[in-house]
Amino acid sequence: MAPAPSSTSSDITLNINGEKHTLPVDHRTTLLDALRERLDLTGTKKGCDQGQCGACTVLLDGRRAVSCLQLAVAAEGREITTIEGLADGDRLHPVQQAFLDLDGYQCGYCTPGQICSAIAVIEEHAAGWPSAVTDDVRPEAGPPPLSPEEIRERMSGNLCRCGAYVSIAQAVARAAEAKTGEAAA
Ligand code: FES
Ligand code: FES
Repeated sequence: MAPAPSSTSSDITLNINGEKHTLPVDHRTTLLDALRERLDLTGTKKGCDQGQCGACTVLLDGRRAVSCLQLAVAAEGREITTIEGLADGDRLHPVQQAFLDLDGYQCGYCTPGQICSAIAVIEEHAAGWPSAVTDDVRPEAGPPPLSPEEIRERMSGNLCRCGAYVSIAQAVARAAEAKTGEAAA
């Protein structure tokens, strides 16, 4: 006789970095644990496991999300992008390249989350989203300059125990400038 279906687990299909992965998961499994423990995508890091450090940040449909606070079952049907999916073959994503060029890391543990956040920050800023330190939040004012203060505020959900913040902020600024240059070209 076939075993009775479990009411606490299901087969789900996750779309990660453009590839579909079908796996059985306990409904309580976080997206972070599914990535790391079930799919060997260990680039996404576990720091606090309670939404406070940003080490586990991934992109969900292009928006940043802390994967330790997302249930894997709730990520079904979304486009999940992890640090492993950013480079184009041997060509690093421009934000990865900026972190490399400007030493935006020390031990590197927080770096995948920092880079995923930075990609979303640059998009959010270009789309005109204000931050808590934006002076003029009227829609017609347009995006504020991406000043060091704006970058620090927008990246404040990503902690770095090595304290590489100065270089991280410079790397985000450089990647944002490169993107603006690309758009203007
Ligand atoms: S591990 Fe998810 S926010 Fe710290
Ligand atoms: S580079 Fe070590 S925690 Fe950020």
